[in-house]
Amino acid sequence: MSEPLALAVPKGRVLKVLVPLLASAGYDASSFLADERALVRTSACGSLRALLLKPDDVPTYVERGVASLGVVGRDVLDERGSELFRVLDLRVGVCRLAVAAPKGFSTQKGHVLRVATKYPRMALAHYAKKGEQVDVVKLHGSVELGAVTELADVIVDLVETGRTLEENGLEVIEDVSAVSSVVVANRAAWKVDGERLRGFVKGLEAALVT
Ligand code: PRP
Repeated sequence: MSEPLALAVPKGRVLKVLVPLLASAGYDASSFLADERALVRTSACGSLRALLLKPDDVPTYVERGVASLGVVGRDVLDERGSELFRVLDLRVGVCRLAVAAPKGFSTQKGHVLRVATKYPRMALAHYAKKGEQVDVVKLHGSVELGAVTELADVIVDLVETGRTLEENGLEVIEDVSAVSSVVVANRAAWKVDGERLRGFVKGLEAALVT
C-alpha cells in the first residue's frame, strides 16, 4: 500500500466541519478530532494522514511539500501573499474581512487613520487602493479592543456573526474581502501524484453538493 496522503489541517473550528465532509467523501477521519495530544493522525482506512497545525502554518507545510494538500482560509493565504495552488473552495469557515469602527464614527480630514489589525498587508492594500495612507497597528487577537480603547480609530478584522462587534459597540463600515476555507496543493505533488490528489479533491467536491 502507498504512503498515506498527507494533509495539513488547522486545529479547531474548521477541522470540526472538515471531518464530517471527509466522512461524506468516504473517509472515516474521526481520529482527527479525538481528544488526544498527538499532532499526526491517520484515518481509519490508513489512506489519509493529518498534520494538526495552527492555521498560519498550513501554507508552510504545503509549500515545502511535507503535506501534498492543505486546508486553509483565504485570509491566511492573502495576508501571506501565497501563490499556492487553490484547488477547491470548501465553503466552510465562511466570513468576511471588514473595516469596523465605533458606532457613529466619522473620519476627520487631514488625520492619518490608525488601523488595528491582524492583517497588516491586506489592510495596507485596501487603503492603498483608495489612495489613503494609514498607520497600521499590528495585533495578534482581540482586535476589537484596539478600537474600543482608542489604540486605533478603526479595525480590519474577520466578521462572522457580527456578535463580537455588536457586543463591543462597533459596526462594519466597509467590506474588504470574502473569506472561506480552501484546499491548496503543493504544485510538484499535484504533478507527480496528480491522479490520487485529483481523485481525493473530486470526492470532497462531490461531498459538498450532497
Ligand atoms: C475572530 C475575529 C473576531 C471574531 C468574529 O476572533 O477576529 O474577533 O472571531 O466573530 P463573530 O463575528 O462571529 O463575533 P477569534 O474568535 O478567532 O479570536 P481572536 O480575537 O483571538 O482572534
